[in-house]
Amino acid sequence: MDLFEYQARDLFEKHGVPVLPGIVATTADEARAAAIALGGGTVVVKAQVKVGGRGKAGGVKVVKGPDATAEAAQSILGMDIKGHTVHRVMIAAGAAIEREFYFSVLLDRAERRYLAMCSVEGGMEIEQLAVERPHALAKVAIDPLVGIDGAKAAEIVAAAGFDPDIAGDVAEAIEKLWLVYRDEDATLVEVNPLVQVADGSIVALDGKVTLDENAAFRHPDHAHLVDSAAADPLEAKAKGLGLNYVKLDGAVGIIGNGAGLVMSTLDVVAYAGESFGGVKPANFLDIGGGASATVMANGLDVILHDPQVKSVFVNVFGGITSCIEVANGIVGALETLGSEASKPLVVRLDGNAVDEGRAILAAANHPLVTIVDTMDGAAAKAAELAAA
Ligand SMILES: Nc1ncnc2c1ncn2[C@@H]1O[C@H](COP(=O)(O)OP(=O)(O)O)[C@@H](O)[C@H]1O
Ligand SMILES: [Mg+2]
Repeated sequence: MDLFEYQARDLFEKHGVPVLPGIVATTADEARAAAIALGGGTVVVKAQVKVGGRGKAGGVKVVKGPDATAEAAQSILGMDIKGHTVHRVMIAAGAAIEREFYFSVLLDRAERRYLAMCSVEGGMEIEQLAVERPHALAKVAIDPLVGIDGAKAAEIVAAAGFDPDIAGDVAEAIEKLWLVYRDEDATLVEVNPLVQVADGSIVALDGKVTLDENAAFRHPDHAHLVDSAAADPLEAKAKGLGLNYVKLDGAVGIIGNGAGLVMSTLDVVAYAGESFGGVKPANFLDIGGGASATVMANGLDVILHDPQVKSVFVNVFGGITSCIEVANGIVGALETLGSEASKPLVVRLDGNAVDEGRAILAAANHPLVTIVDTMDGAAAKAAELAAA
């Protein structure tokens, strides 16, 4: 999960990384109030979008006074930066920048360790620096069992070629940034620029942090960092229900058990859809091994509320769970949903207790349900219904 700059700033502050005061605003009036709260002097209005190069895109403006701050916020809010709409700005205290540096630490999967990168030439895009002046970018491998201690931080600043007068302060900031990386379970912490300001001190002026979602269980305090507004509403709903759901663009809703079966279902539906004017799957949804009535109802609930869905293909292979339970799950789900289940369902059951399962569906005789015995046949039927 990528964080907004203001969220990264907060994590930096928590771990003692030097940052400047910053206040988030969603309106010009809030921005004005923030400028006043910061003392009414020079501030920087910064677009909060999860994409780099905001400065070049006009999303970072240095202004003086509350009125100019409100005006700048007005022009930045709603701006589109590389496909990301600006819904918030951060009003940050203005820094008197002397020099701009670069620092990052990230997960190096290929080398199975971490990698720190550092440069005395910060501010510009790091990809460009890496290509044009590779020697200016120091790369130092980090042993995950040791991390960045005082000695490693000293090694990093030495490799980057910092002047002795600031090397110590930069190393200290790097040690604190390592704490952010380690203690928050990040896979990336990047500061561009890390600056030296007029009084000589070091400050992180920008922050990019990616958190490892696999470690979310260790960080209940990270839950509030999730940007629910940016997520697809159906995906957010599915996530809330604990479903493995990915929204796609087509018209055939897909429910299956087991990721492999669901993936091949997407393929057969896309293939069958070619005969019906290019009908495609509307989603990936794996309801897993259990496939209880509740899980089935939740899955159908999400899929049937996708306005793009015209038909639904339920493709379940009874393994440990018998088709009896699966069939009862479908019947129960349709009962639970009542009139909300308004789109045709094509059901293909196979595997453990398939005859009994099909018999249950046949006995329920739900007007929207069509039972098809083969996967290819069911895919073709679902595509046909979606095209109708
Ligand atoms: N608080 C600040 N005070 C002064 N200048 C700033 C401040 N924040 C950013 N800047 C300037 O704006 C540039 C771009 O801002 P930054 O936060 O790095 O955004 P991005 O990397 O998305 O362009 C920085 O390189 C720095 O020169
Ligand atoms: Mg930057």
